Amino acid sequence: MRKNVKQLLTEIYDARADAHLDLYQLSNQHRRKHGRGCDMFPSDPLQGPLWTVLASLTHARRMLEVGCGYGYTAAVMASAGGPDCRVDTIEGDPYHAELAEQAFLQRGLSRRIRVLRGRGQSVLPKLKGRYDVVFLDGDWREYPRYLRHLRRLTRPGSIIVTANLNPLFGGWGGSFPGKPAIQSYLTRLVRDPHFQTYIVPGEGHSISVRV
Ligand SMILES: C[S@@+](CC[C@H](N)C(=O)[O-])C[C@H]1O[C@@H](n2cnc3c(N)ncnc32)[C@H](O)[C@@H]1O
Repeated sequence: MRKNVKQLLTEIYDARADAHLDLYQLSNQHRRKHGRGCDMFPSDPLQGPLWTVLASLTHARRMLEVGCGYGYTAAVMASAGGPDCRVDTIEGDPYHAELAEQAFLQRGLSRRIRVLRGRGQSVLPKLKGRYDVVFLDGDWREYPRYLRHLRRLTRPGSIIVTANLNPLFGGWGGSFPGKPAIQSYLTRLVRDPHFQTYIVPGEGHSISVRV
């Protein structure tokens, strides 16, 4: 995001995008310390208000994330949903899962956020019930395998936000592998009669509603 846009949005939101910024900072510190092999990239805090909008829109009681990292967005989602909302977040790296669990414990969030250890493709088939909001923020090469579970784990009106589409469209990750998986996922998602999908140009995200 351009610096002046960031500055303007920060002024306009006036602290409405500041929830759990300590976890955002811890995520970045962790990644810098662990170097190239670490993919703990927290979402932009200016995306924070999106979760409040989606929680209000869906009257969210259950939210799901694939790709927990240090737990920044899971904490933001839980706060957006309020005290009656529960968040399940899937994390494939045992060290990241441990850090997130500790972080939730220290912040009094562990009753509301459950860390499910394992890769999305292994954990999703074991999940039951319906989620109101789903956020995909892990390895995009697995996304095509998530589709049937997204159908199974949502109800009409549920919202799915998919991140990490940039490798297909350019910007960061342009040289990363997995472009065909992203294209296949998006093509199937867009054509799936169970969803209506908007791909947000330039943002590397898509938003789908279960119909
Ligand atoms: C982009 S970071 C997630 C950041 C987090 N959503 C946030 O905004 O704070 C990606 C995380 O997903 C994990 N991950 C990557 N691929 C995964 C997969 N297929 N299943 C589960 N976790 C995965 C990585 O270990 C890393 O911690």
